[in-house]
Amino acid sequence: MIDVRHVGARTLLDHTPALEGIYRQSFAGPPWSEPEAKLAQFPAQLRRQLSYRGAGGLLAFDGEAIVGAVYGWAAPEALRPDNPLDAALVTAVTPETLGSLSAPARIVGELMVASTHRRRGIASRLLTAYVADAPRAWLITHRDSDARHLYRRAGWCEQVEFDTDGQPVVLLTWAPGPAAQ
Ligand SMILES: CC(C)(COP(=O)(O)OP(=O)(O)OC[C@H]1O[C@@H](n2cnc3c(N)ncnc32)[C@H](O)[C@@H]1OP(=O)(O)O)[C@@H](O)C(=O)NCCC(=O)NCCS
Repeated sequence: MIDVRHVGARTLLDHTPALEGIYRQSFAGPPWSEPEAKLAQFPAQLRRQLSYRGAGGLLAFDGEAIVGAVYGWAAPEALRPDNPLDAALVTAVTPETLGSLSAPARIVGELMVASTHRRRGIASRLLTAYVADAPRAWLITHRDSDARHLYRRAGWCEQVEFDTDGQPVVLLTWAPGPAAQ
């Protein structure tokens, strides 16, 4: 049985080696095809992401083994044009959408499931639980990612496609529906 638990930034950091293993399984291959240099930066990237205000997430356990994770942080009051992703968003989206990306939105930074445990609904459980108490949320995924099916099924809205960091991506947003209110 898969057990899904809410965790804070400290616990996520404590599990960096397990998370790095899943990250490598998830992002070394297509469509992301991240080079070794980028994969090797995972521990530093995780530390940076989890230093943001409101950082936390959920872990999925199969017994003692971590088999999936979602984590993110609270959106800032305004996007930061000195950050390359934020700068790309500022030019890609309408002012109205841009406003919805700042506080009190929640940003989903990463969603990943071990290759041995996919298509069992783990990512859907993680994502649903992570945004359940958020007023709204957003994330970026690769334009060719299988995850797009998952997000559509979970009620996320595709807003705009654009390029960032050499990757074609799509912005998705989420807000509570009548069932969640
Ligand atoms: C994308 C990912 C998180 C999905 O995890 P998962 O636990 O297998 O997802 P779920 O079982 O909850 O899938 C729910 C639904 O999403 C869709 N879906 C998930 N993976 C899919 C795939 N490979 N191809 C097509 N549809 C897919 C399906 O509709 C699926 O329902 P179904 O199995 O009943 O058909 C996982 O494949 C992964 O870690 N991929 C690499 C990392 C990544 O792309 N993360 C998202 C980037 S932001």
